[in-house]
Amino acid sequence: MEKIWAGRAAKHLDQIADDFNASIRFDRRLAVEDLTGSMAHAAMLGAKGINSAEDTEAILAGLEGILQDLQSGYLEIDPNAEDIHSFVETELTRRIGDAGKRLHTARSRNDQVALDLRLWLRKEIGEIRSLTAALIRAICGKSQEARDAIVPGYTHLQRAQPIVFAHHLLAYGMMLERDLGRLADACRRLNISPLGSGALAGTTYPIDRDMTAKALGMNGYTLNSIDGVSDRDFVAETCAALSILMMHLSRLSEEIILWSSWEFRYVELDDAYTTGSSIMPQKKNADMAELIRGKTGRVYGSLMGILTVLKGLPLAYDKDMQEDKEGLFDSVDTVKMCLQVMAPMISTMSVNREAMRNAAAKGFINATDLADYLVRKGMPFRTAYKTVGQIVAECTAKGLTLETLPLEAYQAHSPLFGEDLFDAISLETCVRQRISPGSVSGPSLDAQFAFLASAVEGL
Ligand code: ARG
Repeated sequence: MEKIWAGRAAKHLDQIADDFNASIRFDRRLAVEDLTGSMAHAAMLGAKGINSAEDTEAILAGLEGILQDLQSGYLEIDPNAEDIHSFVETELTRRIGDAGKRLHTARSRNDQVALDLRLWLRKEIGEIRSLTAALIRAICGKSQEARDAIVPGYTHLQRAQPIVFAHHLLAYGMMLERDLGRLADACRRLNISPLGSGALAGTTYPIDRDMTAKALGMNGYTLNSIDGVSDRDFVAETCAALSILMMHLSRLSEEIILWSSWEFRYVELDDAYTTGSSIMPQKKNADMAELIRGKTGRVYGSLMGILTVLKGLPLAYDKDMQEDKEGLFDSVDTVKMCLQVMAPMISTMSVNREAMRNAAAKGFINATDLADYLVRKGMPFRTAYKTVGQIVAECTAKGLTLETLPLEAYQAHSPLFGEDLFDAISLETCVRQRISPGSVSGPSLDAQFAFLASAVEGL
């Protein structure tokens, strides 16, 4: 297939070099965006009288035809084309003749590819945000169900203080809400048109960049043509936002794996989201969660990839930048799959309140509340802390818990102890008394539900 840039060279490109150079294998994913961008460009060239009305009409009809034929499957993308841009231009010229050769006036593949990738990413970020919202909804649903399921809260993976499972899950809702924000920010910054930057220095034609930007639904155009074609910050920024999102999914996955182990048994995953072993008949493995945790690695890899590709590049366009796509595409695909599997996995997971409660009852996790009890009776906190520490040591030595140590034994440590201590350290009281905003008690849960509901509204 003749190159669109055939002209200067006396020889054809070597076959291996040609394969090495070509990007059609992956940039074919930009076909719709390439056509959309080309239509906006062609319409502008017509409106400015740079191309005749007749040619413009032919070009627009030709591009529309290609779009429809690609969507219906009637037209296949030629795997031997160099890239999606040359494929579209060659196909257009094949269909409408010489008018097709006027499409690329006042444009370069450098501003074209920068535009295509922005348009594609804008759409994908929209989808990822919707899928993230669906996961937040699943988390809120499960949290409503587990509003009063008492479970140990941990620090250092040691039982720390009693919480309700809803509060723990909602922490992930909060992380995901920030992911929504990061993705929206990235999208806002990338939704600026580089079209009209030309190869790097702009163009001699009286183009209307505002017109193409508006036609494409973008918030303005880039003000420096060199930056317009050289900038891939938006790829790095999106990969960074996706990496952070995956880090959150991976942490949640890790906890789900832990919680569904026999040692914890806090949750049980639905059979639709677990697998068995080929040899051990009893096994129920949390493969989906493990895969999400594992796939986080490749998303981080893409972020490192793009940062490394860009770090030494002289301005303006360099072919290295063609390496921006595969990692980005893979990250987008991976994140979408992970979100799609995680939301229903959470929705269908069952919560084992009894196992949670049993774990909460045996770890001295109400020790802070016992200290707070003494503080309420007038003891300074640090003294109370020490007294309770000694009581815990005594319980441990005697094989007792704070609930089973007799009142007389308590009173030997401090006369401030009374019968009411047992109510003060009941797990329900501990949770209910956490009244500070953002804590684990009911009003705080309600505030979290309301916040997350408004964050996902319309998504
Ligand atoms: N396939 C190229 C890319 O992805 C398109 C831009 C080509 N520009 C050029 N000057 N060779 O970056």
